[in-house]
Amino acid sequence: MSLLLACDVGADEAETWRAALSAALSGEHLLTSSQGAADDIEVAIVANPRPGTLAGLPRLRLIQSLWAGVDRLLADPTLPAGVPIVRMVDPAMSAAMAETALWAVLALHRGFFRYARLQGEGRWAPHGQRRADELVVAVLGLGQMGRGTSLRLAAQGYRVRGWSTRPTAIEGIETHAGEAALDTLLAQADIVLNLLPLTPATRGLFDAARLARMKPGAGLVNLARGEHVVEADLLAALDAGRLRHAVLDVFQTEPLPAGHAFWSHPRVTVLPHAAAQTDPRSAAGVVAANLQAWRAGRPLANLVDRQRGY
Ligand code: NAP
Ligand code: GLV
Repeated sequence: MSLLLACDVGADEAETWRAALSAALSGEHLLTSSQGAADDIEVAIVANPRPGTLAGLPRLRLIQSLWAGVDRLLADPTLPAGVPIVRMVDPAMSAAMAETALWAVLALHRGFFRYARLQGEGRWAPHGQRRADELVVAVLGLGQMGRGTSLRLAAQGYRVRGWSTRPTAIEGIETHAGEAALDTLLAQADIVLNLLPLTPATRGLFDAARLARMKPGAGLVNLARGEHVVEADLLAALDAGRLRHAVLDVFQTEPLPAGHAFWSHPRVTVLPHAAAQTDPRSAAGVVAANLQAWRAGRPLANLVDRQRGY
């Protein structure tokens, strides 16, 4: 039986993945196309495969996502029902996310994005300085990404408040759960950091009504999915000066189209969906360990709950 590697990425990146996985999965037969071998494929290792890629594989028994977020995968109406999906959970990725979040929060807190703008204008205009412990940072989503990020921000001195569906305990972090807690949290936070999965419950979370409930002058950092934010509503809140600045790594359309208002907006910092990339060097080992557990009949970690959507 064979493994299928299905990545909707450029040829160079696909080859990097093939090489890293082949090295980590010695003894396994890794295919990069199901053509002529559909009956032989038992496991699919996927990175946002094109819709339909996993249909018509009669012996498929496991799907391993190379991405942490599986919203695009689950949106494929032809995704085989009943086949377990394991998503990528790699400490190297969580560490990268915590780094990006720390950079964004620090830059918002200390006004470094403003200084970058002033440099472009040749202007010398120092502003006041607040201590980290004077700022409340709300971290939405306390999973693999949110947990480590919260701890990293707390270690930096920020007053971190986390939010999740189910009550979650993290030492040193004030946590809240459930829809009802969100508005209070948004009203208190100087910076809101989004690390939620994209599900029917979280799509469009940051619409005009919710943005209006944020503390005036707050910053928004979206490192999760573009569809969490109603882009026109965010632009309106920034233009009105209600929000000070947004750091956006993810967008409704990626790559962010040329001419999109975010590219040149003075209150927006754009990253090219690079907050936490899957690193083939460590992720190939994660895949190999999951496959080994599965072949040995051990319980699989990080299974996706299709009902919840993450
Ligand atoms: P995860 O481990 O599944 O954690 C999800 C967290 O969100 C959990 O704490 C969960 O709470 C909470 N949550 C889900 N739905 C909620 C809701 N409706 N209300 C409140 N809390 C809710 O996911 P993860 O690995 O941390 O990844 C989070 C997301 O980051 C991914 O889905 C992906 O979109 C994004 N991501 C982005 C990049 C990038 O480079 N930009 C890289 C990796 C991941 P419960 O457990 O209590 O339900
Ligand atoms: C990246 O966004 C991922 O979900 O891995």
